[in-house]
Amino acid sequence: MSITISPSILSADFSKLAEEIRQCELGGADCIHVDVMDGRFVPNISFGPEIVKTCRALTKLPLDVHLMIVEPEKHLEAFAKAGADQISVHYETCPHIHRTLETIRELGVSPGVSINPGTAVNCLREISHMFELVLIMTVNPGFGGQSFIPQSLDKVHCMRDLLDKTGSKAVIQVDGGIDADTIADVYKAGARNFVAGTSIFLHPQGIPAGIQALRAAIPSD
Ligand code: DX5
Ligand code: ZN
Repeated sequence: MSITISPSILSADFSKLAEEIRQCELGGADCIHVDVMDGRFVPNISFGPEIVKTCRALTKLPLDVHLMIVEPEKHLEAFAKAGADQISVHYETCPHIHRTLETIRELGVSPGVSINPGTAVNCLREISHMFELVLIMTVNPGFGGQSFIPQSLDKVHCMRDLLDKTGSKAVIQVDGGIDADTIADVYKAGARNFVAGTSIFLHPQGIPAGIQALRAAIPSD
């Protein structure tokens, strides 16, 4: 299964977003990860569909939109119209997750689901055929620059197992504290899609070097 590196623009310098996204392209990013926060599901507020629209105009890379908001079903259409290629909703925010994932698919967007560090992998069993991406949060969502939670490794293992048992083709994404020191272990546990903010945008040698350092730290099979 191929590797996806998804820079999270939450850590970008917004005064030069176009240039930062260009640097992501130059560095070989596979995707751009857009973190949407509402100050309710998570303590922080970030951005909405307008930024997705801006990114859409700036790059041809797929846009991976991570919704950390309550009642995400009210905003799916707006994010789809803004140009999202993939939308992940948090399981914790969706009492009708089955319907919400169906709606994302009907909008022509790839459906994803995310779980917090305190949420059990097993809650996704019954819907494992409905998403193409499962985001195991490796920090508590809300902020960039937090430390990787080591217990996440076991969750990634369990998720890999669940996907194998249910025959789901979904890809495991990890997000939070992913850097050149943590990426190898999550890869070995089964993750193939890696979101990183700090380790890419704040890399001392620049964005392309940050992306390359992550790739270089992934063990070859
Ligand atoms: C956290 C966000 C992440 C964040 C990751 O709630 O979902 O995408 O930007 O940032 P780092 O890589 O700095 O942990
Ligand atoms: Zn994210």
